[in-house]
Amino acid sequence: MENMEKRKVMLSGIQPSGDLHLGNYLGAVKNWAARAEEFDCYYFMADMHTITVRQTPADLRRRTLEQLAQYIACGLDPEKNTLFIQSHVPEHAQLGWVLNCYTMFGELSRMTQFKDKSAKHKDNINGGLFTYPALMAADILLYHPEYIPVGEDQKQHCELTRDVAIRFNNIYGNVFTVPEPYIPKVGARIMSLSNPTSKMSKSDPNGCVFLLEKPEDIMRKFKRAVTDSDTENCVRYAPAEKPGVSNLMGIYSSVTGKSYADIESEFVGRGYGEFKPAVGEAVVEALRPIREESQRIIADKAYLQDVYRSGAEKAGRIASRTLRKVYKKIGFVER
Ligand code: TRP
Repeated sequence: MENMEKRKVMLSGIQPSGDLHLGNYLGAVKNWAARAEEFDCYYFMADMHTITVRQTPADLRRRTLEQLAQYIACGLDPEKNTLFIQSHVPEHAQLGWVLNCYTMFGELSRMTQFKDKSAKHKDNINGGLFTYPALMAADILLYHPEYIPVGEDQKQHCELTRDVAIRFNNIYGNVFTVPEPYIPKVGARIMSLSNPTSKMSKSDPNGCVFLLEKPEDIMRKFKRAVTDSDTENCVRYAPAEKPGVSNLMGIYSSVTGKSYADIESEFVGRGYGEFKPAVGEAVVEALRPIREESQRIIADKAYLQDVYRSGAEKAGRIASRTLRKVYKKIGFVER
């Protein structure tokens, strides 16, 4: 226990707004399980963040649970990681309000995600979309993490979190740990199968393989994968010249552990027509246990409930301690 307490904390939130795909898995989630050996890890489904954009209620509920099940199936052990649903820990909303009052209009106006999303959803530029970074700062600062593993797109929000934490600490003393974004070293960057110069993304479903997709659909997508219009029809790693084949090699290498040199010699004299289905089969096999385990977990509502309830309980203990301290510092009367 004492050992646990000294470990550094890492925390990240995931918006349950889409299904997980191969790019998420190979580029991120696959490496998360190992982190729990070194860090005290918190992962939460950021359901409160998703409603800044209109959601279909039944879909939001289903995806929140499915996402939790998929993370567990990918190896995030709920015994070793704290997995919870954001809205189950009301301190996020409570500290969110407080931090709204320590976050400047000008700072929020500079957020590129706000600019992008408000351009995209012109009919729904709501207050939550604007103040979202204050809620995100609360998500983070409640747990005193040293590191926040995020993608490049969240770096600006993490920097704002630091600024808000420093501002608060300067007024009230050392309340918050000032966290650092932790942007993983080039993990496998998986590109779209249909357009290998852009990242695999759920918005381009033909180029994107979802973790829960049926094997025959996965095979079809790989067989149709765009390879390069060079004339050599040869499996060779050359990302600039041959982005399609190189991306497939990256995927094949990630799921089989084979090096690029091994792959090149395995497919010497065999063209793309043989290589593409071989990658498809390797992916199907790699995803099979994840799919089966996800489906088993999704069906086991009692187990899932157990996981998110005990996660919320553990998170809630830490969160309420932080909130109590903040309330006291700013002068709220103790109940
Ligand atoms: N804003 C993040 C995203 O859109 C999700 C998120 C919410 C988050 N709260 C967080 C990430 C706290 C890290 C820490 O992806």
